Amino acid sequence: MTEIVLFSGNANPALAQKISQKLGVPLGDATVSRFSDGETRVELQVNIRGRDVFIVQPTCAPVNEHLMEAMVIVDACRRASAKTITLVAPYFGYARQERKSASRTPITAKLVAEIMEVAGVTRLLTLELHNSAIQGFFNIPVDHLFVKPVISEYFKNLHGNVIVVSPDAGGVERARAMAKQLRCSLAIIDKRRDTPNECEVMNIIGDVKGKFCLIIDDIVDTGGSLIKSTEALIENGASEVHAAITHPVLSGTAVQRIAGSKLQQLVVTDSIPLSLEARKCNKIKQITVAGLLSEAILRIHNQDSISSLFL
Ligand code: R5P
Repeated sequence: MTEIVLFSGNANPALAQKISQKLGVPLGDATVSRFSDGETRVELQVNIRGRDVFIVQPTCAPVNEHLMEAMVIVDACRRASAKTITLVAPYFGYARQERKSASRTPITAKLVAEIMEVAGVTRLLTLELHNSAIQGFFNIPVDHLFVKPVISEYFKNLHGNVIVVSPDAGGVERARAMAKQLRCSLAIIDKRRDTPNECEVMNIIGDVKGKFCLIIDDIVDTGGSLIKSTEALIENGASEVHAAITHPVLSGTAVQRIAGSKLQQLVVTDSIPLSLEARKCNKIKQITVAGLLSEAILRIHNQDSISSLFL
C-alpha cells in the first residue's frame, strides 16, 4: 500500500502537528503563503503522484481566507496527480446556513460543498457537523465523526446527579447520544418567543433541580445561547452548570462573557485553535481530537470501517 501524505494549511497547524505525531507521518513539505496582494501561494515540495493525500484545514475564522487556502492546496494536489485528496476539516465553516431560513437567502453549506468538489476534494473528513444532513450536499464520500468518545472519556468520572442538557430542539439527537453514553438523563431547553418583540422564554423540559447539568452543543460562537441556557438552568434550581461544546468559534466578546457568567466550566476541542484570551480563561478547557482524527485517517487509508470507532 502507498504511504499517506499529510499537508497542513495555516488554519490549525498545531492540530496538524499532533495528527502527524500520532500517525508517525511527517507533515509534507509545502509552501502555503501569500503573494503581496494577499492571494494564496502554494507550492508542494514533495512528489505526491498516485498517493493518498490528507490536508488538515478546518475552515474556521477567518473562514473565507481558510476555505480559499484549502481549495488552492487541493488544486495543487489534483494537478500533481494525487490518487485521492481528503480534506480533513474538523470544523466545517458556513454550516449554519444549511437551509433557506427566510426568502431570498443562500444555502452556504451546499455552496461550500460544491466549491470543494469542483476544486478536487475526493473525500471530506469532518467532525460534529452542525446538521448531519449536510453530508447529502456532497456527491463524494463524507466521513462524519462524533466527539462523543472524547467527551465521555473526559467526563468518565462524573457520578451522582448528572443530567445532560440540549440547549435547543435542534441539538437533541447529539445530547441524547451523550446522555446514553454517560448513562444519565436528558433535559431539553425549549426557546420560545410567544409574541414578536417579547423576549425569549426558556422552558426546560426535564427536572434539573439540584442537578449537575452538562450542556452539549456543536458550536459556541458569541456565547449567547450558552450563557442564556446556563442562567435558565440555574433559575430552575441546577446545582452547577458545565458545558462540552465541540467547536470553539468564540467570536467577539464571547470569552469575556463566559468568564463573567455562572457557567463553571466549558470544555471544547482543538477543532479550532483557541485565541490567547481563551487560553488564559480558567473556565475554558481544551481537549484534543487529534487521536480520533488520526485513527480515522488511518482507517480511510486502509479502507477499514469508521463507524466502528463509535460503537
Ligand atoms: C445553533 O443552532 C448552534 O448549535 C449553536 O447553539 C449556536 O451556533 C451558538 O451560537 P452563539 O454562541 O452565538 O449563541
